[in-house]
Amino acid sequence: QIAAAGLDVTEPEPLPTDHPLFKLKTCVILPHIASATVATRNAMAALAASNLLAGLQGKAMGKEIDKEVLDAAGSNLKTISTLSVGVDHLALEEIKKRGIRVGYTPDILTDATAELSVALLLAVCRRLPESVEEVKNGGWTTWKPLWMCGYGLSGSTVGIIGLGRIGQAVARRLKPFGVKKFLYTGSRPKPENAVEFQAEFVPLAKLAEESDFVVVTCSLTPDTKGVCNKDFFSRMKKTSVFINTSRGAVVNQEDLYQALVSGQIAAAGLDVTTPEPLPTDHPLLSLKNCVILPHIGSATYATRSAMSVLAANNLLAGLKEESMPSELQL
Ligand code: NDP
Ligand code: DGY
Repeated sequence: QIAAAGLDVTEPEPLPTDHPLFKLKTCVILPHIASATVATRNAMAALAASNLLAGLQGKAMGKEIDKEVLDAAGSNLKTISTLSVGVDHLALEEIKKRGIRVGYTPDILTDATAELSVALLLAVCRRLPESVEEVKNGGWTTWKPLWMCGYGLSGSTVGIIGLGRIGQAVARRLKPFGVKKFLYTGSRPKPENAVEFQAEFVPLAKLAEESDFVVVTCSLTPDTKGVCNKDFFSRMKKTSVFINTSRGAVVNQEDLYQALVSGQIAAAGLDVTTPEPLPTDHPLLSLKNCVILPHIGSATYATRSAMSVLAANNLLAGLKEESMPSELQL
């Protein structure tokens, strides 16, 4: 009736190996592999993960996984996959107690977040948002020697709170600007992280006193909560710039506001705040020397796509009880 047939799809799948079609030399049967190239399946995984995330936008995103949520989920919950490297929104002790596994997305967002940290630092210290505004509102008149002056990185001391993956990537990007000295704090000295920048491990108070730029890139823990407070800001130089791309709760925002209004410090740039989003009538938003971004550290298309794929793969591995590509050690 016909000369030959080729099938990539059958009913059922898989087709039983004793099916009569397999006996025919004129019939070639493939195991449903039409889209099976590595590139295509990766792109499909990324798209499916992005669709899933779009569906979750505004619902699960940003929600704390606390005891109440865990209780509601019950014993069926075996795996949590977070689209973030930060895990401060997860009740880790409770999660560990219940034997739940956690997947997260370290490393792949380091470059994007460090890039944004440097962009924010430059925008703040060279007063870019203010300058753009002056161009639009007619404040730009004749060239004046001290108008819109800021502070440069050349010859400066940069203090990094938390010289982890992102902290190091920030230092690596700032070094070519002519930074003279790097200081850092953490729970203990990390010579293996510091050697590339000849960074000196110092107490937090000394970092505040000696830095021209403070960049916060630590994780939020009980130890780091609120460490950038009145005492910290009062030790900073009046000419210093404060940047936070870690978590809002590392900073006491009331104390930061006072430090900025009183001229205790020169300026601040925040990618993270408490709460998020920051209410549009928040006092910090009224200050010219404070630049606030809406938590966009890792927001490049490539990074968010890679994060989505990793988060989806973590989740799938957790469901299959296999080893995850990036599992948080609890
Ligand atoms: P890492 O785990 O590599 O680094 C975290 C750093 O925090 C470590 O160097 C650690 O130092 C430090 N730290 C912990 N406790 C203290 C302390 N008491 N004082 C000072 N430093 C401390 O994580 P990443 O670099 O990958 O990410 C860091 C954080 O950045 C994330 O947890 C997340 O909150 C935030 N983030 C924000 C993004 C954004 O969009 N703005 C995007 C991505 C991440 P030590 O080991 O010595 O304790
Ligand atoms: C992270 O990865 O921790 C980012 O802040 C996104 O939440």
